[in-house]
Amino acid sequence: MDEATKRFGRIYGGFRTTTKMLFLNDAKLARELSTKYSHKFPVRNSLYAGSSNISKSLFFMEANEDWKRIRSIVTPAFTSGKLRRMISPMERISNNFIDHIRPYAKTGELIDMKRFIGGFTMDVIASCAYGIDIDSVRTPNHPVVVNAKKILNVDVSISFLFCIFFPGFAKFLRLEAFDKKAVEYFDDLTFEIVEKRLKSDEKQKPDLLGLMIENADLDQNHNPHLNESRLKGISKDEISGQGVIFFIAGFDTTHATFDHAIYYLAKYPEWQERLYNELVAESKNSFDFDRLKELPILNGIISETLRLNPPLTEFHRECKEECELCDTGLRLPKNTLVLISPYSIHRDPEYFPDPLKFDPERFFGENSQENNKAYMPFGAGPRLCVGMRFAQNELRIGLAKFILNYKVEIDPDFKLEYFNGSILLSPKRLMVRLSER
Ligand code: HEM
Repeated sequence: MDEATKRFGRIYGGFRTTTKMLFLNDAKLARELSTKYSHKFPVRNSLYAGSSNISKSLFFMEANEDWKRIRSIVTPAFTSGKLRRMISPMERISNNFIDHIRPYAKTGELIDMKRFIGGFTMDVIASCAYGIDIDSVRTPNHPVVVNAKKILNVDVSISFLFCIFFPGFAKFLRLEAFDKKAVEYFDDLTFEIVEKRLKSDEKQKPDLLGLMIENADLDQNHNPHLNESRLKGISKDEISGQGVIFFIAGFDTTHATFDHAIYYLAKYPEWQERLYNELVAESKNSFDFDRLKELPILNGIISETLRLNPPLTEFHRECKEECELCDTGLRLPKNTLVLISPYSIHRDPEYFPDPLKFDPERFFGENSQENNKAYMPFGAGPRLCVGMRFAQNELRIGLAKFILNYKVEIDPDFKLEYFNGSILLSPKRLMVRLSER
């Protein structure tokens, strides 16, 4: 539980500049608000996302008819069957990741794993979202890497802060929440890819862009020249907005989870050994997608990491009209921003006994906390993270490959440090020593 919840209780109010806020860390009400009462909170957060196509992405859209239309086109790209087609690029990229760190395992020198995990997560999203193969550790100047980093680097942008805290003013001043040139780069890239695929009928490519084009139900009755009307149900701008949001929502979150998982494995060598033994028993270096998600230790470690360190420490809902908070009788004024903190809820002893203990067994077998209503690292309700299964697959493959190849150790004095004030729980550094298995 966080300090404020300890002090003020699970439900308390506040202000952010002129925005009325409700901090809601009561798990039952938080879940009900996100599910049963979600229609009363159609807005995620009325921050100004800027004039680019990012504002047309699922994350920043109000849950209206357009959001429903796009979500119904995007969701099928993340079903187990479709994701199975991305296992092979994920496996190839994890092999590359393993190769990059081998020299350091040979010398046993202290390294910051963040750089290599960042390379892995960047390459996975570039390949699986856009079908572009890069090796970002070796080619840090690749335009995809450079522009993605510019978009992701939001913590230093004053305009971004204005877009959050003074959205009306930011819109009036035409400020941009994200680096405009970098977003335009991704727009051009998306248009180029979409156009090429429509022309060459290469739309079957198994990346997220390809799956969106496929699910968009191409309107073959229109003239064969490329135009918007050939994409039934979703425009090219909207596809571009989703492509960019996959980078923003999918890169840092998965990166931070992978960092924390390695941290816990290094800190608790007994879990590292249990995981290694489980994976060796499963068959070395050859993964069956359907089997990976059945492995209790691997999945327990990932779930427990996400419980203790949900990368998005909070998620939001905003009401457009005055309304009641679920059935509590408590009235919320129009435009109240509700902040739900999985970080605080996951550390509440009433929901998870002995909450600070790293215990993957919480997620084993019949009593697994996976279905505990208080467990919500990916949010809840109709706006639940659309990339959840994608991220879980990526983490399973990356971690499994890593542990099969290396032992990891951490200095007992090493402490995780974070950037102040960010809702993204991403460690600044992860200094470890590796040795070969
Ligand atoms: C460990 C990794 C990840 C975590 C912990 C995570 C967490 C979250 C959370 C908490 C939300 C808000 C949910 C809500 O408001 O109820 C969210 C939304 C979203 N996430 Fe993720 N995410 C992860 C990875 C990904 C990936 C890999 C992608 C895409 C490839 C992605 C795409 C999205 C999108 C598009 C939304 C907005 C959905 C909507 O509003 O319809 N996320 N995520």
